[in-house]
Amino acid sequence: MPPLITTTIEETRQALAQARQRGLLIGLVPTMGALHAGHISLIRAARAETGIVVVSIFVNPTQFGPNEDFSRYPRPFDQDVKVCAAEDVDLVFHPEREKLYPPGYHTYVAVHDLEDALCGASRPGHFRGVATVVLKLFNIIQADVAYFGQKDAQQARIIQQLVRDLHLPLTIKVQPIVREADGLALSSRNQYLDADQRQQATVLYRSLEEIRERVKAGQRDAGLLVQALKTRIATAPEARLDYAAVVDFETLKPLERLHGQVLIAVAVHFGATRLIDNILLRVDD
Ligand code: PAJ
Repeated sequence: MPPLITTTIEETRQALAQARQRGLLIGLVPTMGALHAGHISLIRAARAETGIVVVSIFVNPTQFGPNEDFSRYPRPFDQDVKVCAAEDVDLVFHPEREKLYPPGYHTYVAVHDLEDALCGASRPGHFRGVATVVLKLFNIIQADVAYFGQKDAQQARIIQQLVRDLHLPLTIKVQPIVREADGLALSSRNQYLDADQRQQATVLYRSLEEIRERVKAGQRDAGLLVQALKTRIATAPEARLDYAAVVDFETLKPLERLHGQVLIAVAVHFGATRLIDNILLRVDD
């Protein structure tokens, strides 16, 4: 059965009210479309754990900077609906920009401190846009469980904080990163890479795996690990480093020595394309 496609808030609420009356748990997978196996892993988790699966497809203008790829971001909507049909999604919410941000719109949510770290430093306003649209989606869908990918670790961390701080009545589930056979994390932006850049892009994953090994071997000095990341990434001729960081996953603040939940994260430009990747390590000694 193809999913029901809604574009307005009213018809979405109406469709979901019936499901709620039947006592079904509602699972939400927020996306910007151009669905790939990473998105599908979230949809499958939702399908396995909830009774009604909603996928939102909305390229959210407020999370793109003025010089970012908002207008060229891929929008293969018909193909996305086919993917949703194959994955037995119940409802696809696909609003127009004006439905979420009508003229006269004024309200934004900020998750202070966390939004300025890592990607926030080079993408000012990005996480304000993310937190705002995600809160809107939570309010419109009133999901019981919402699914996010570890691929965007900072985003997942910020959404968890948003839910905690604003007492939102839903559970956040974070799913592991889905990768290509050579380790590159799946991303809608990978299609921007030319063949050469695509090959070099595996350096993100390779550099992170090298760090995993060093930590396993006992290295706890964050400065040395950051240096190793930078050195490895510099071996890719077209790679332009945005950041390489070793941070506490709770605060997203840089660590000196590894301890607790440690996020190792990198962002690298290849030409006009910016790629991110990360690993999360538990360090107890
Ligand atoms: P988008 O980039 O479309 O990603 C939607 C969800 O898929 C996010 O939770 C992201 O972390 C997850 N995802 C992407 N690539 C993945 C991969 N390789 N493995 C596992 N999960 C992956 O993230 C957004 O959209 C937007 O910021 C959004 C939350 C929809 C708000 O506009």
